[in-house]
Amino acid sequence: MFQENISLKKLNTFGIDVNAKKFAEFDTLSSLKLLLDQCNANDELLVLGGGSNILLTRDYQGVVLKNNLKGIEIISEDENYAFVKGAAGEVWHQFVLFAIENNLGGIENLSLIPGSVGAAPMQNIGAYGVEIKDVFHELEALEIATQTVKKFDTKSCEFGYRESVFKRDLKGKYIIISMTLKLNKKHKLNTSYGAIEKELSSKGISSPNIKDVSDAVIAIRQSKLPDPEKIGNSGSFFKNPVISTIQFESLKEKYPTIAHYPVNEHEVKIAAGWLIDQAGWKGKTFDNYGVHKNQALVLVNYGGAKGKDIFQLSQQILDSVYETYGIQLEREVNII
Ligand code: EPU
Repeated sequence: MFQENISLKKLNTFGIDVNAKKFAEFDTLSSLKLLLDQCNANDELLVLGGGSNILLTRDYQGVVLKNNLKGIEIISEDENYAFVKGAAGEVWHQFVLFAIENNLGGIENLSLIPGSVGAAPMQNIGAYGVEIKDVFHELEALEIATQTVKKFDTKSCEFGYRESVFKRDLKGKYIIISMTLKLNKKHKLNTSYGAIEKELSSKGISSPNIKDVSDAVIAIRQSKLPDPEKIGNSGSFFKNPVISTIQFESLKEKYPTIAHYPVNEHEVKIAAGWLIDQAGWKGKTFDNYGVHKNQALVLVNYGGAKGKDIFQLSQQILDSVYETYGIQLEREVNII
């Protein structure tokens, strides 16, 4: 059953206080289908998992459904791999903890990323050299129009950098209900990321296990990124832009310390955090919102900010970075 005019403040990690005209939660597939049956054909529909990748800029005039599907289990295994299935409404970090408790490797670098299991493939979450696509097996999603459950493998998800088909061609057409990952019994650690190496060596750990790597990632994240329980935020607000090697070479002459990662012969990925930081935005505060003091990619709500204000700040940052460097940044967060 729907509730009316419900505040979404506790359901988005930015902590923006807007109302949903109609709101309901579902914890089984059949209750989800029943709710969809009760929607009008022209109702705008927003499905929330952890609410960690959205900026709400207005009261929502349609239907908001909160995904509370729960359960994490090993569905099959052999001597090398275990297939772990998680319901979309589970907290992503609980999935990581389940993997570590069962000594399964592959997602330890993705520790403590806010959000739900269902949102993880939607935006191909990534951190410290690992993306969900690297361990992805399949997901199940309910097609809204037909109310049938379809399976998607890695190829049909069309993963890209913080992208999937569910953010593009199939946007708004499916509701992800579960995800299955193929995790490793024989661990291949990825500690090449400088900050992880540094954290491990500061603890005197020379041959780390997956729990050590997870703990290191947690420590790094806690030192740089604001805890959404305390300061509203949505992680990286912008994507790291990819530019041509030619454009990069000319920028590098002017800005020799520009933080970047090679992509291929023709392209270079630039650290958007560096661009925003160097353009003078890091730590800037306006009333009750601003740019985080330790990581310029993260916009924050110190309490009571309006989504519209944060959106406008993001526009000013986009314009400023474009004017300074000629690079058009893109938002990573979904704007509603
Ligand atoms: N930098 C600055 N100033 C800043 C922020 C960064 O100079 O304010 C420089 C850093 O010194 C470093 C470079 O930029 O040289 C990269 O910074 P960092 O290692 O913090 O990573 P990032 O590229 O800013 C990405 C992801 C994060 C992920 C980290 C670690 C994106 C948009 N962000 O950030 O993901 O945790 O790498 O792998 O790709 C997220 O998506 O929400 C997220 C937090």
